Amino acid sequence: MPNLRTQIQQVSDSYSRCCKDEAFFEDFYRSFLSQSDEISAMFEQTDWYRQRYLLKSALKSAILFAKEPSVHLVKVLMANIASSHSIDHYNIRPDLYPIWLECMIQTVSKHDPKYSHALGEAWKDVLKPTIEFMISQYNKEDK
Ligand code: HEM
Repeated sequence: MPNLRTQIQQVSDSYSRCCKDEAFFEDFYRSFLSQSDEISAMFEQTDWYRQRYLLKSALKSAILFAKEPSVHLVKVLMANIASSHSIDHYNIRPDLYPIWLECMIQTVSKHDPKYSHALGEAWKDVLKPTIEFMISQYNKEDK
């Protein structure tokens, strides 16, 4: 079993390499929206400049959430992202997350020159707490 601490460092380094090229975020959304009409319909009103910026920062939060899940600020950031994706807001069903994750790994594989199968597995392990948390909040009503 790979050590989570090592994987977090590997993913953090990999993400820095991916972020060198802003096209990373465009490529991710191009790939994700092409997965189904249902998904692309959800992004019809999207302000793409804002969306790419917010995803960039959300991925940093996701990496931090794997590393420091109990830090208050990280919990607040995650709670906000999860709440916006819940049934009462964007209504992102749990079955859409594996598709999102596959597109993310595929985009990383294209943009990170040091990509390997093990690195892809590290990305999956590191994003797992975020995805599990977002899914766990799907049915949660607003306070
Ligand atoms: C770990 C997985 C994901 C992360 C980190 C993430 C992150 C974000 C962030 C940061 C935003 C913008 C800020 C906000 O409104 O909260 C956003 C908006 C959105 N996300 Fe996600 N997301 C994830 C998964 C998904 C999935 C699986 C879908 C399925 C279609 C999805 C659909 C949307 C939609 C429709 C919006 C609103 C776009 C708009 O404003 O027009 N997200 N996401």
